[in-house]
Amino acid sequence: MDFNESVTKTNLARSFSAECQAGARYQFMSKMALQDQQKFLSDTMKTLAKNEMAHAKVFYDHILNNSGGSVKNISIEAGFPFDEPKLESSLLEESKIEEAEANNIYPSFARIAKDEGFADIAKSFEMVANVEATHHQILKYLASLYSKRKMYRRDTPTEWKCSNCGYVSISKDGFKECPLCNMPQGYVIIDFEKELQDQHE
Ligand SMILES: [Fe+2]
Ligand SMILES: [Fe+2]
Repeated sequence: MDFNESVTKTNLARSFSAECQAGARYQFMSKMALQDQQKFLSDTMKTLAKNEMAHAKVFYDHILNNSGGSVKNISIEAGFPFDEPKLESSLLEESKIEEAEANNIYPSFARIAKDEGFADIAKSFEMVANVEATHHQILKYLASLYSKRKMYRRDTPTEWKCSNCGYVSISKDGFKECPLCNMPQGYVIIDFEKELQDQHE
């Protein structure tokens, strides 16, 4: 199928827009987290923002590679959220957007791409969907910790590590201030990958 006539071309442009906007919103959230003294959360959002921009680049490159290096304009119709940014509600809202991308939007774009004969583009949609599923889990988990004000409180003794100097202590509560470098609690690493894994075991 001619790429220019395909639905996949429009889907790629929509996806590019969505990824750019998620990247922007995550950078806004990263700034908000920093203002809230949550350095580790801020760094995490910055990493997720970087991931989204990398996804945007993948979609952008597919458009260029399939259209001889340039397209004047691609018109799309799509809805995008514009909410007053609040860390707690934004974490939860973003986790839902990630979930929709992972479970519905990108898998359906992958199917369409496959039907239209663009196997490599379908593969990219599938791979990005898998990353968004992880983003969904991370954001949902952080949203629940944040809303319960339990970023640094666990029911069992936990290893807490300062992201600044690497100091480690084990207790139910993360240290309020790093005993070694005096950085505030927001620098302490939340090992969400391990904690999410533990939840599923
Ligand atoms: Fe993404
Ligand atoms: Fe994502």
